[in-house]
Amino acid sequence: MRSRLVAGNWKMHGSLAANQRLLDGLKSGLKASDGAQYTVCVPYPYLSQAQSCLSGTPIAWGAQNLSEHAQGAFTGEVSGAMLRDFGCRHVLVGHSERRALYGETDKQVAAKFQAAQGAGLIPILCVGESLQERESGVTEIVVGRQLAAVLDSSGVGALVNAVIAYEPVWAIGTGRTATPQQAQAVHAFIRGVVGRQDAKLAAGLSILYGGSVKAGNAKELFAMPDIDGGLIGGAALVVEDFVAICDAARSA
Ligand code: PGA
Repeated sequence: MRSRLVAGNWKMHGSLAANQRLLDGLKSGLKASDGAQYTVCVPYPYLSQAQSCLSGTPIAWGAQNLSEHAQGAFTGEVSGAMLRDFGCRHVLVGHSERRALYGETDKQVAAKFQAAQGAGLIPILCVGESLQERESGVTEIVVGRQLAAVLDSSGVGALVNAVIAYEPVWAIGTGRTATPQQAQAVHAFIRGVVGRQDAKLAAGLSILYGGSVKAGNAKELFAMPDIDGGLIGGAALVVEDFVAICDAARSA
């Protein structure tokens, strides 16, 4: 049985006061469960707040990015070891906003994936196609290429300690969700690509769906055989919504 994970991606939102309300709400709304794990990926300055609030609870925390370097003269960058210092368990790698707005290449994403694992973090590797790519029928080529960059540099075995998130770019923050069938098809493709190298590992790999997941559509997405949870943006900022999505993951 694959473990289910619901990960909140707060993006560049929050304040000490607003986070406190959100974290307190999540703490009282989310109970420990064998059925699902929860994590929140917060902006760097709030890692300490997440750590002091969430230690000893069933909710893990993490960051949204990290440097591919271990240390050095890289002004403005944050290393995996620094994230571990604040108790992070997860880190997003290759989110489409990083790829599109900050020019992160497949090669750089693969290096970040490796840096995360080297620091003892679980990378959540984000892959996904743009609308234009979907409409040109190259979804599998794009997702396959993004996946291959990591498989080639870290080897398939590295995926034992990683999570993949399929996020079609056209569904992120747009309110336009992939249908459960559209998402399932790409999830099955991803599992198949990994499975050609290691079938057992692929069967146990958690693959999350992300892109306009809401309380109202989570259940039908999580009911698909290859969807093992979600990466949640907007709805992760609202206690009731995130809790409802976690409930859906637990009962799917
Ligand atoms: P969204 O964002 O849920 O707001 O679409 C998802 C993400 O970017 O991870």
